[in-house]
Amino acid sequence: MAGMKRYRLSIIPGDGVGREVVPEGLKAVRAAADVTGSFAIDTVDYPWSCEYYAQHGRMMDDDAMDRMRDSDSIYLGAIGFPGVPDHVSLWTMLLPIRQQFDLYINLRPIKLLPGINGPLRDRTPEDVDFICIRENTEGEYCGVGGRLRVGTPDEVVMQTAIFTRKGTERVVRYAFDLAMKRKKQLISGTKSNALNYSMVFWDEVVAEVGKEYPEVSVQNQHIDALSARMVLNPQQLDVVVASNLFGDILTDLGGALQGSLGLPASGNIDPTGKHPSLFEPVHGSAPGRAGKKLANPMAAITAAAMMLEQLGEDKAAKLVYDGVAHIALNGPKTIDLGGEAKTPDVGDAVEAFIRAQK
Ligand code: IPM
Ligand code: MN
Repeated sequence: MAGMKRYRLSIIPGDGVGREVVPEGLKAVRAAADVTGSFAIDTVDYPWSCEYYAQHGRMMDDDAMDRMRDSDSIYLGAIGFPGVPDHVSLWTMLLPIRQQFDLYINLRPIKLLPGINGPLRDRTPEDVDFICIRENTEGEYCGVGGRLRVGTPDEVVMQTAIFTRKGTERVVRYAFDLAMKRKKQLISGTKSNALNYSMVFWDEVVAEVGKEYPEVSVQNQHIDALSARMVLNPQQLDVVVASNLFGDILTDLGGALQGSLGLPASGNIDPTGKHPSLFEPVHGSAPGRAGKKLANPMAAITAAAMMLEQLGEDKAAKLVYDGVAHIALNGPKTIDLGGEAKTPDVGDAVEAFIRAQK
């Protein structure tokens, strides 16, 4: 079709259940492309993973970043498998991609879906619908540190967190911009009582950037108290901004509140559009569950919807989100949600729902 957009997607299924859920997300994307007729996708599959490491001695090829640079998005399953230490697999793949492509926003929506019996089952989808913006390139994850006198009684270990003004301002500004589009309420996760340099600085930046957004009400809340509030009063949250590690922890808690880690999705975004953004489920590779088609693909399918949204394909994204909501209510459900369905059953059902909307 003349004028139809074509998106180039780099696909990294990765390890464990990542390989099982990624095909299900792609089914939904292809179905949404067919139904809307507004775009097509070309996928390039990359085998980079712990298995690849076992064969080639590296997680990714040396030119991996260059090969992915021109793609419109990266769609990733999960990384990590016994045999390769997690800090090796992650520090030679996912974390460098986030840092080198400057994917400085990690966007993680936390919502209740009707029909899921989570710990917040007495709450409604209206009560629990907030979004966590996690700083994604520095902070506690800057990888700076060292070990001295390893293995001796005098061992010394340092793991340094680095907060730059540029890095902090841009994530905080993104959060204010998003708050302006939503309820004009921002909560900043902090810990400036104990972290007297980094988090005091973080709070200062929030206050400074906040001057540009007089309409947004801001609350600074210590991360421990904020975790408790997520459980006790989730209806009070709308946009939450947090540092890399704090945001990581809050969003697994968010997944648990949603009822399963098989539900939350994650967009690693370069808002400048200079680099391809990366979309993935929040969950990991679950090696113990891998190979049995037990994994819930809803998080990966939701990540695909976020990807479509970011590409500007709002209609297609909505079809995919609606497909996931339909499954939440009507099944089929995988074992984490109390059902017996296998991974592809869920993907097929989402695809069928989307195709039926034509
Ligand atoms: C996530 C994951 C990663 C992180 C790990 C695998 C390094 O937990 O995307 O939340 O902490 O960022
Ligand atoms: Mn995590």
